[in-house]
Amino acid sequence: IVKLRYEMNVSEDNILVTTGSTQCMDLLGRVFIDEGDIVLVETPSYIDGMNTFAFYGGHIQNIPSNGDGMDLVALEQYLSSHDKVKAIYVIPDFQNPTGRYWSVEKRKAFMNLVSQYDLIVLEDNPYGEINYSDEIRPSLASMDTKRQVVYMGSFSKTFSPGLRVGYVIGHKTIVDQLELTKESVDLHSTALNHAIIEQYMVNYSYDDHVSYMCNVYKKRLDTLCDTLARELPEFRFIKPLGGFFLWVTIPDNIHCYDLFHACIKEKVSFVPGLPFYSTKDNTNHIRLNFTGISEDNIVEAVTRMKRAYESLL
Ligand SMILES: Cc1ncc(COP(=O)(O)O)c(C=O)c1O
Repeated sequence: IVKLRYEMNVSEDNILVTTGSTQCMDLLGRVFIDEGDIVLVETPSYIDGMNTFAFYGGHIQNIPSNGDGMDLVALEQYLSSHDKVKAIYVIPDFQNPTGRYWSVEKRKAFMNLVSQYDLIVLEDNPYGEINYSDEIRPSLASMDTKRQVVYMGSFSKTFSPGLRVGYVIGHKTIVDQLELTKESVDLHSTALNHAIIEQYMVNYSYDDHVSYMCNVYKKRLDTLCDTLARELPEFRFIKPLGGFFLWVTIPDNIHCYDLFHACIKEKVSFVPGLPFYSTKDNTNHIRLNFTGISEDNIVEAVTRMKRAYESLL
């Protein structure tokens, strides 16, 4: 998968299979992050990634980001004026929560910039295969000339989250440290779950499965976007080209938690956007998941959300 899809040249020595990619982040936090280290993240970024690095003493700093990923001018300014940056945690493919992806040019320019600094890049890519376009963008890891990128992948979004199978790819010295640390965490991930995935790949076409699921999800995304545009034109969004989420900006005068509580009364739910930021002033974003419910239920959910929204006006 990794070789074909992300142009990475890896051998067995470079891979550690983990208990979900959540465990990769935990192991990376244990091994690399010390009290007071700065960890740079996109704005907004994945809550559990930020929480994990903060748990190990990391000081999380959001770098402004736009439709094309991290703002490299802001990143350069930050890097050139701070010397405790240990790591940059990024999700360049169909990010959680925004669904954004970084262009190839952005990836090259990012790697060019960070290669001038002594830090590690933590590239988290659980959504890259959930792709609704024909284009596959090379990973940051494939552009790494200094062995400073650690890449995380997962079968949670393509196959089953319950099996808890993820993997980390990096330079052998890093993978060895992570492996040693993993021994004291869970000794070994469940081999039976690896065998289930392996047997599926041997007996069926994993690629066909993923492309089938992408077709299903794409229709759900289309339904969500069309219904929102029709029923709630005040809500703004950019349709993503992959991933599980639609990131929606609601009118400034509505707080995402007020909409959340009104929606709960209507028995519909979403994830408020605020916790995806390290500061508390971004109150008008919400994250909608479209992959887990049928098209009919998506239409019903938006109808309920509209009632909830109108109750706040
Ligand atoms: C960006 C991101 N990274 C990692 C994970 C964790 O995935 P896993 O189930 O492999 O632990 C998630 C799950 O939602 C995610 O959104």
